Amino acid sequence: MQVAVDGPASSGKSTISKILASEFSLIYLDTGAMYRAGAYLKLKYKIIGEPFYELLRRTDFIFVGAGKPFVLKSPNRREDVSAAIRTPEVTAATSDVAADGEVRRILTAKQQKIAEGADIIMDGRDIGTVVLPNADIKFFLIASSEERARRRTIEWRVQGKNVIYEDVLKDISERDKHDISRENAPLKKAPDAKEIDTTLLTIDEVVEIMRVCIREIAG
Ligand code: DC
Repeated sequence: MQVAVDGPASSGKSTISKILASEFSLIYLDTGAMYRAGAYLKLKYKIIGEPFYELLRRTDFIFVGAGKPFVLKSPNRREDVSAAIRTPEVTAATSDVAADGEVRRILTAKQQKIAEGADIIMDGRDIGTVVLPNADIKFFLIASSEERARRRTIEWRVQGKNVIYEDVLKDISERDKHDISRENAPLKKAPDAKEIDTTLLTIDEVVEIMRVCIREIAG
Protein backbone atom coordinates (compact mmCIF):
# COMPACT_ATOMS: atom_id res chain seq x y z
CA MET A 1 0.00 0.00 0.00
CA GLN A 2 1.25 3.48 -0.86
CA VAL A 3 0.02 6.55 1.01
CA ALA A 4 0.74 10.14 -0.05
CA VAL A 5 0.53 12.95 2.51
CA ASP A 6 1.00 16.52 1.30
CA GLY A 7 0.44 19.91 2.84
CA PRO A 8 2.12 23.13 3.91
CA ALA A 9 4.79 23.49 6.61
CA SER A 10 3.65 22.53 10.13
CA SER A 11 0.33 21.06 9.05
CA GLY A 12 1.10 17.93 11.10
CA LYS A 13 2.19 15.72 8.19
CA SER A 14 5.25 14.13 9.72
CA THR A 15 3.86 13.50 13.22
CA ILE A 16 0.74 11.91 11.77
CA SER A 17 2.58 9.94 9.05
CA LYS A 18 4.91 8.40 11.66
CA ILE A 19 1.94 7.23 13.75
CA LEU A 20 0.17 5.73 10.72
CA ALA A 21 3.42 4.14 9.49
CA SER A 22 3.79 2.28 12.75
CA GLU A 23 0.09 1.26 12.88
CA PHE A 24 -0.05 -0.06 9.32
CA SER A 25 3.57 -1.35 9.13
CA LEU A 26 4.54 1.09 6.40
CA ILE A 27 7.97 2.56 5.68
CA TYR A 28 7.89 6.27 6.51
CA LEU A 29 9.72 8.57 4.12
CA ASP A 30 10.14 12.23 5.08
CA THR A 31 10.88 13.81 1.68
CA GLY A 32 11.34 17.26 3.24
CA ALA A 33 14.37 15.80 5.05
CA MET A 34 15.89 14.96 1.66
CA TYR A 35 15.52 18.55 0.38
CA ARG A 36 16.91 19.77 3.70
CA ALA A 37 19.87 17.39 3.33
CA GLY A 38 20.45 18.80 -0.17
CA ALA A 39 20.58 22.33 1.25
CA TYR A 40 22.90 21.13 4.03
CA LEU A 41 25.34 19.61 1.51
CA LYS A 42 25.26 22.74 -0.64
CA LEU A 43 26.07 24.97 2.34
CA LYS A 44 28.69 22.59 3.72
CA TYR A 45 30.65 22.11 0.50
CA LYS A 46 29.87 25.56 -0.95
CA ILE A 47 29.25 24.17 -4.40
CA ILE A 48 26.67 25.10 -7.02
CA GLY A 49 25.65 23.91 -10.47
CA GLU A 50 26.82 20.59 -11.88
CA PRO A 51 29.27 19.69 -9.06
CA PHE A 52 26.40 20.08 -6.59
CA TYR A 53 24.02 18.01 -8.72
CA GLU A 54 26.69 15.32 -9.10
CA LEU A 55 27.21 15.17 -5.34
CA LEU A 56 23.46 14.86 -4.87
CA ARG A 57 23.24 12.04 -7.43
CA ARG A 58 26.05 10.13 -5.66
CA THR A 59 24.51 10.61 -2.22
CA ASP A 60 22.46 7.83 -0.74
CA PHE A 61 19.77 8.94 1.68
CA ILE A 62 19.43 6.33 4.35
CA PHE A 63 16.61 6.64 6.84
CA VAL A 64 17.23 4.85 10.09
CA GLY A 65 14.06 4.66 12.14
CA ALA A 66 11.23 7.11 11.63
CA GLY A 67 12.53 9.97 9.56
CA LYS A 68 16.12 10.05 10.74
CA PRO A 69 18.34 10.41 7.71
CA PHE A 70 21.96 9.47 7.43
CA VAL A 71 23.66 10.87 4.38
CA LEU A 72 26.08 8.48 2.74
CA LYS A 73 28.26 10.82 0.71
CA SER A 74 30.57 8.23 -0.78
CA PRO A 75 30.87 4.46 -0.44
CA ASN A 76 32.91 4.77 2.76
CA ARG A 77 31.72 7.98 4.37
CA ARG A 78 28.55 8.12 6.46
CA GLU A 79 27.26 11.20 8.23
CA ASP A 80 24.28 11.53 10.56
CA VAL A 81 22.61 14.78 9.56
CA SER A 82 19.35 14.36 11.47
CA ALA A 83 20.02 17.40 13.69
CA ALA A 84 22.05 19.45 11.20
CA ILE A 85 19.20 19.64 8.67
CA ARG A 86 16.83 21.25 11.20
CA THR A 87 18.87 24.41 11.90
CA PRO A 88 17.38 27.81 10.92
CA GLU A 89 20.23 28.32 8.41
CA VAL A 90 19.52 25.06 6.58
CA THR A 91 15.74 25.61 6.79
CA ALA A 92 16.15 29.04 5.16
CA ALA A 93 18.40 27.63 2.38
CA THR A 94 16.05 24.72 1.61
CA SER A 95 13.37 26.73 -0.22
CA ASP A 96 15.76 27.68 -3.04
CA VAL A 97 17.19 24.17 -3.27
CA ALA A 98 13.65 22.74 -3.44
CA ALA A 99 12.76 25.16 -6.26
CA ASP A 100 15.65 23.92 -8.45
CA GLY A 101 14.29 21.70 -11.24
CA GLU A 102 17.39 19.49 -11.47
CA VAL A 103 17.41 18.92 -7.69
CA ARG A 104 13.76 17.89 -7.89
CA ARG A 105 14.46 15.48 -10.77
CA ILE A 106 17.29 13.84 -8.80
CA LEU A 107 15.38 13.58 -5.51
CA THR A 108 12.08 12.55 -7.10
CA ALA A 109 13.87 9.66 -8.86
CA LYS A 110 15.44 8.57 -5.55
CA GLN A 111 12.07 8.77 -3.77
CA GLN A 112 10.37 6.72 -6.48
CA LYS A 113 13.15 4.12 -6.28
CA ILE A 114 12.71 3.80 -2.50
CA ALA A 115 8.93 3.41 -3.04
CA GLU A 116 9.26 0.72 -5.74
CA GLY A 117 7.28 -2.29 -4.56
CA ALA A 118 7.27 -0.98 -0.97
CA ASP A 119 4.44 -0.41 1.47
CA ILE A 120 5.16 3.18 2.24
CA ILE A 121 3.77 6.46 3.55
CA MET A 122 5.53 9.52 2.18
CA ASP A 123 5.05 13.10 3.24
CA GLY A 124 5.98 16.23 1.34
CA ARG A 125 4.56 18.82 -1.04
CA ASP A 126 4.34 16.96 -4.36
CA ILE A 127 3.86 13.32 -3.38
CA GLY A 128 0.29 12.95 -4.66
CA THR A 129 0.92 15.07 -7.76
CA VAL A 130 4.42 14.06 -8.90
CA VAL A 131 6.23 11.40 -6.84
CA LEU A 132 3.42 8.86 -6.35
CA PRO A 133 0.64 9.89 -8.75
CA ASN A 134 -0.78 6.35 -8.48
CA ALA A 135 -0.71 6.16 -4.68
CA ASP A 136 -3.52 4.01 -3.24
CA ILE A 137 -4.64 6.91 -1.09
CA LYS A 138 -3.74 10.59 -0.97
CA PHE A 139 -4.24 13.14 1.80
CA PHE A 140 -3.82 16.89 1.72
CA LEU A 141 -3.53 18.40 5.20
CA ILE A 142 -4.17 22.08 5.72
CA ALA A 143 -4.45 24.42 8.72
CA SER A 144 -4.58 28.18 9.09
CA SER A 145 -1.16 29.85 9.08
CA GLU A 146 -1.86 31.24 12.57
CA GLU A 147 -2.54 27.77 13.97
CA ARG A 148 0.54 26.32 12.24
CA ALA A 149 2.68 29.16 13.63
CA ARG A 150 1.22 28.52 17.10
CA ARG A 151 2.10 24.82 16.90
CA ARG A 152 5.61 25.53 15.57
CA THR A 153 6.24 28.15 18.29
CA ILE A 154 5.32 25.63 21.01
CA GLU A 155 7.53 22.98 19.36
CA TRP A 156 10.58 25.31 19.27
CA ARG A 157 9.98 26.45 22.86
CA VAL A 158 9.73 22.85 24.10
CA GLN A 159 13.14 22.36 22.49
CA GLY A 160 14.44 25.32 24.51
CA LYS A 161 14.51 27.80 21.61
CA ASN A 162 13.34 31.26 22.50
CA VAL A 163 11.25 32.15 19.44
CA ILE A 164 8.68 34.90 18.90
CA TYR A 165 5.28 33.88 17.53
CA GLU A 166 5.17 36.77 15.03
CA ASP A 167 8.55 35.75 13.56
CA VAL A 168 7.41 32.14 13.21
CA LEU A 169 4.19 33.28 11.51
CA LYS A 170 6.17 35.43 9.06
CA ASP A 171 8.52 32.54 8.29
CA ILE A 172 5.63 30.13 7.72
CA SER A 173 3.85 32.59 5.41
CA GLU A 174 7.04 33.08 3.38
CA ARG A 175 7.62 29.35 3.08
CA ASP A 176 4.01 28.86 1.95
CA LYS A 177 4.44 31.52 -0.72
CA HIS A 178 7.65 29.85 -1.96
CA ASP A 179 6.12 26.35 -1.98
CA ILE A 180 2.92 27.41 -3.75
CA SER A 181 4.37 29.77 -6.35
CA ARG A 182 7.44 27.86 -7.52
CA GLU A 183 7.41 26.60 -11.09
CA ASN A 184 8.64 23.07 -10.35
CA ALA A 185 6.26 20.75 -8.53
CA PRO A 186 4.53 23.44 -6.44
CA LEU A 187 2.51 22.59 -3.35
CA LYS A 188 -0.87 21.61 -4.80
CA LYS A 189 -3.68 19.30 -3.83
CA ALA A 190 -3.97 16.33 -6.19
CA PRO A 191 -7.52 16.20 -7.63
CA ASP A 192 -8.05 12.78 -6.00
CA ALA A 193 -6.60 13.72 -2.59
CA LYS A 194 -8.73 13.90 0.52
CA GLU A 195 -8.36 17.34 2.09
CA ILE A 196 -8.40 17.56 5.88
CA ASP A 197 -8.44 20.91 7.65
CA THR A 198 -6.60 20.23 10.92
CA THR A 199 -6.96 23.74 12.36
CA LEU A 200 -9.48 22.73 15.02
CA LEU A 201 -8.51 19.05 15.31
CA THR A 202 -6.12 17.25 17.63
CA ILE A 203 -3.46 14.92 16.26
CA ASP A 204 -5.52 11.95 17.46
CA GLU A 205 -8.61 13.20 15.64
CA VAL A 206 -6.72 13.64 12.37
CA VAL A 207 -5.12 10.21 12.76
CA GLU A 208 -8.55 8.68 13.33
CA ILE A 209 -9.99 10.23 10.13
CA MET A 210 -7.01 8.98 8.11
CA ARG A 211 -7.00 5.57 9.79
CA VAL A 212 -10.63 5.01 8.75
CA CYS A 213 -9.85 6.00 5.13
CA ILE A 214 -6.79 3.71 5.00
CA ARG A 215 -8.71 0.77 6.49
CA GLU A 216 -11.39 1.24 3.85
CA ILE A 217 -8.91 0.77 1.01
CA ALA A 218 -6.80 -1.85 2.84
CA GLY A 219 -9.94 -4.00 3.12
O1 DC B 1 8.48 19.34 5.18
P1 DC B 1 9.66 20.24 5.50
O2 DC B 1 9.26 21.54 6.15
O3 DC B 1 10.76 19.56 6.25
O4 DC B 1 10.25 20.63 4.05
C1 DC B 1 11.44 21.36 3.92
C2 DC B 1 11.43 22.12 2.61
O5 DC B 1 11.43 21.23 1.50
C3 DC B 1 10.26 23.07 2.39
O6 DC B 1 10.80 24.31 1.90
C4 DC B 1 9.42 22.43 1.31
C5 DC B 1 10.38 21.54 0.58
N1 DC B 1 9.80 20.28 0.11
C6 DC B 1 9.46 20.17 -1.21
O7 DC B 1 9.62 21.13 -1.96
N2 DC B 1 8.97 18.99 -1.69
C7 DC B 1 8.78 17.95 -0.89
N3 DC B 1 8.29 16.80 -1.40
C8 DC B 1 9.10 18.05 0.50
C9 DC B 1 9.59 19.24 0.97
